[in-house]
Amino acid sequence: MIRQPIVVVMGHIDHGKTSLLDKIRKTSVAKREKGGITQHIGASEVPVDAITKTATIASLMKTKLEIPGLLFIDTPGHEAFTNLRRRGGSISDMAVLVVDIMKGFEPQTLEALEILKEYKTPFVVALNKIDLLQGWVPHPDSAFLSSLSSQSPAVQEEFEKVLYRFVGRLSELGFQSERFDRVSDFTKQVAIIPISAKTGEGVGELLILLAGLSQKYLKERLHVKVRGEGKGSILEVKDEVGLGKTIDVILYDGVIRKGDCIVFGSVNGAKATKVRALLKPKPLDEMRDPRQRFMNVEEVHAAAGVKIAAPGLEDAIAGSPVFVVSGSEERVKKEIEKEINAVLFDKKIAGVILKADTLGSVEAIIKLLADEKVPVSRADIGAVVKKDVIDASGIRNQNRYYGVILAFNTEVLEEAKEEAGKLGVTIICEGIIYSLLEKYKKWVEEERERERLEMFSSLVPPAKLRVLPGCCFRASKPAIFGVEVITGRIKPGCELMNENAVIVGKIKSIQKEKESIHEAGEGMQVAIATDEPTFGRQVNEGDVLFTVIPKADAKLLLEKYRELLSDAEVELVGEIRRMLGDVFVKTR
Ligand code: GTP
Ligand code: MG
Repeated sequence: MIRQPIVVVMGHIDHGKTSLLDKIRKTSVAKREKGGITQHIGASEVPVDAITKTATIASLMKTKLEIPGLLFIDTPGHEAFTNLRRRGGSISDMAVLVVDIMKGFEPQTLEALEILKEYKTPFVVALNKIDLLQGWVPHPDSAFLSSLSSQSPAVQEEFEKVLYRFVGRLSELGFQSERFDRVSDFTKQVAIIPISAKTGEGVGELLILLAGLSQKYLKERLHVKVRGEGKGSILEVKDEVGLGKTIDVILYDGVIRKGDCIVFGSVNGAKATKVRALLKPKPLDEMRDPRQRFMNVEEVHAAAGVKIAAPGLEDAIAGSPVFVVSGSEERVKKEIEKEINAVLFDKKIAGVILKADTLGSVEAIIKLLADEKVPVSRADIGAVVKKDVIDASGIRNQNRYYGVILAFNTEVLEEAKEEAGKLGVTIICEGIIYSLLEKYKKWVEEERERERLEMFSSLVPPAKLRVLPGCCFRASKPAIFGVEVITGRIKPGCELMNENAVIVGKIKSIQKEKESIHEAGEGMQVAIATDEPTFGRQVNEGDVLFTVIPKADAKLLLEKYRELLSDAEVELVGEIRRMLGDVFVKTR
């Protein structure tokens, strides 16, 4: 028996990786993804009979297939998920590089090529979306070669042109390539299979090629290792009815059996437990989004997707390794902790607090934040708790733009919500990676605007008032009298002076129709109370009063907040400063 090869599907965002697997599985996972993008590694098994059933196979198959099937790993194309692609690439035997024929090679196509080169992973190129070529008449689910031969000569010619543009591009990048049916040596040339994940054209040829190639060239590799201790990677931690918390795992090496001791990464360090049940997804199901119930099995051989039920999995970390251990647990635990600690940290610096669902998303978000030069104080897995909010509030006192919690695909506990309300801490919740960054940036903008307005309202505003005749309600201590705001606005705390720049006193409070108000604007008639002057002496009916604007405030008003002032107010700032002795005040 040889094991089934792991085939990773890589490529730039939206080039059609998930759609290709959907076509193979006859599922519609891509349509149900949040934000229309893949944000996790996925796994699905395609048994060999599903491959050989394809109508196009007979002509291509010269040898009998011995492999039990193919285990496909779906990866995200979004730029931030480099580490997930790297992980996908590193555990795979082969790869399909999906390239949108209309778009060509894009940044993550090139990145994928780099990863494949680094791990020396053999790969084929699936030139996807051929149905979008001008004039292409689709032949659903038929072989590419037969579909091509029934296209018009013009379309065929155009297709060849496009194809050889890709061959040329690959050659520039150091890869010899050729259309799959024209390849003379698969060890030297990369096979290009034109496909449409939408119509299914070419998908059968792609499958048979992958199966044939892996069997022919990777046989050695597929023979070995199947007996060792199981090694896997946790895709997801999930609640299952009757089983409690379970982990979905890609087993990429060795064997795992019921009763085995496994070591895995948890929020509280590496932990060991005993496997209680092993469940396999039905063939042709995406493990992340299965249509059917799992099957109970006694043991699982790599490579496979498997759900593990065991006590103590509640705090398991998605993205962490999981190893079967028969000897000493300690060494393995240390190894796993090292890997996790490379991603999660608590630096106690001024930076945002990040809580996310998996190691992969933490890595991806940290990368995006680093690109935006946003420091991260703490990166952690799990729900947002009260402590996160308290810490964020502390950080906010150091830097208001970092005192925030970014919660990606994770829960916010009630206690945290309550505390956030009390302390005025913002928790940004999001399930789509690019939206998380957008939301944070928008919040920073709003915060900037708030800070600006706070600063503006802390400045002494320009105001020109006239003391109303017959409106003195009290002569002194405090003097209470009516004024009309001619220009600008006044608020409690403003110092007032008369036309000769003689200071008369500070506004203690403002009343309008017996109600205290915080501010009085242009045209308003209000009563003001002020301790210092005596009405009839320092202040008289008909007097014109001005606010006393300190030089620093005037400078800020004119330089930073000019657009928040009317032209008349700008003039008034200059007038007031001139009254106070500035020889020259720039107001324009
Ligand atoms: P990420 O996982 O986010 O990197 O994207 P992906 O590569 O998995 O792409 P996905 O399968 O989500 O497809 C992206 C879009 O392209 C979807 O709207 C698909 O319907 C469309 N699409 C995929 N394959 C084809 C194809 O062969 N033809 C056409 N016309 N559209 C396609
Ligand atoms: Mg996808």
